[in-house]
Amino acid sequence: MKKYLVIGNPIGHSLSPLIHNHWMKKYCLVDSIYEKRKIEKKDLKNIVNEIRNEEIKGVNVTVPFKKEIIPFLDCLDGAAESTHSVNTLCKVNNEVWGYNTDTPGFRTSLTKDPSIDIRNKNIFILGAGGVTPSIIETFLDVANKIYITNRTKEKAKELKKLADISLTLMGRKKIIEVINWGEKPKVCDIVINTTSVGLTKDENLDLNFKDYENNNDVLFYDVIYNPKETNFLKDARLRGNKTLNGKMMFLWQAQIAFQIWTNICPEIDDEAMKLLD
Ligand code: ATR
Repeated sequence: MKKYLVIGNPIGHSLSPLIHNHWMKKYCLVDSIYEKRKIEKKDLKNIVNEIRNEEIKGVNVTVPFKKEIIPFLDCLDGAAESTHSVNTLCKVNNEVWGYNTDTPGFRTSLTKDPSIDIRNKNIFILGAGGVTPSIIETFLDVANKIYITNRTKEKAKELKKLADISLTLMGRKKIIEVINWGEKPKVCDIVINTTSVGLTKDENLDLNFKDYENNNDVLFYDVIYNPKETNFLKDARLRGNKTLNGKMMFLWQAQIAFQIWTNICPEIDDEAMKLLD
């Protein structure tokens, strides 16, 4: 049996088993099974050893271990290295590799949408949690300016520091500015919620976006896909802004992880889309 896992804490909400087991069935990988496992930080080393010993074939890593897993790995792919965030593990030759498929997953969710153009835009990112460096990374080579705000300002500053290293390596000037929580830059082209506020239906970010009223050119993006429409997106829709939730990002990141493990690029078909509804 080839065993795959998603690890995190909490883990009950994860829909990764649904999508990966769907693809395993679709591509007749009859000896494969994908499960979720709630773990503690002290278990990370053992998980990596289970991959090394081939007791587990592939792992997805979710909150809050995307960074904590790194010291136990042998190698990181490019995006994992630059974001210090790993969401996929696989044994390659005799090494356990960490990949970041959130970054290409997020980017693809934007670039595959013909109504969205990410070039030369001003981006406003709310939050500085586990997924945020992957979101920032997507815009580093194309954005005009990136504003980051987080309740705990220090965490946003840390992410700016990390991203500035990538910008220097790219030969780009510093385009990131950290702003105080509760304050806003001038109207941006894309506003992204990467905080966990909204995971519970009645939670609200309590930021005032009145100056975005009737602006259909602006995209409000929430990386949350369950619930389908957070208050952040509902308010944006009622204001007349474009909205997108994290469903396609989730599917694209899962597609890339599946391909890393199996060499099969699974189709994001209607059935896969419906699984998340
Ligand atoms: P972690 O903080 O462990 O990385 P996460 O779920 O990846 O966990 O990130 C949660 C994000 O949502 C953080 O940016 C967090 O802000 P803090 O860094 O200040 O904790 C943000 N967040 C959670 N609850 C919030 C709230 N009530 N108001 C504003 N931001 C909140």
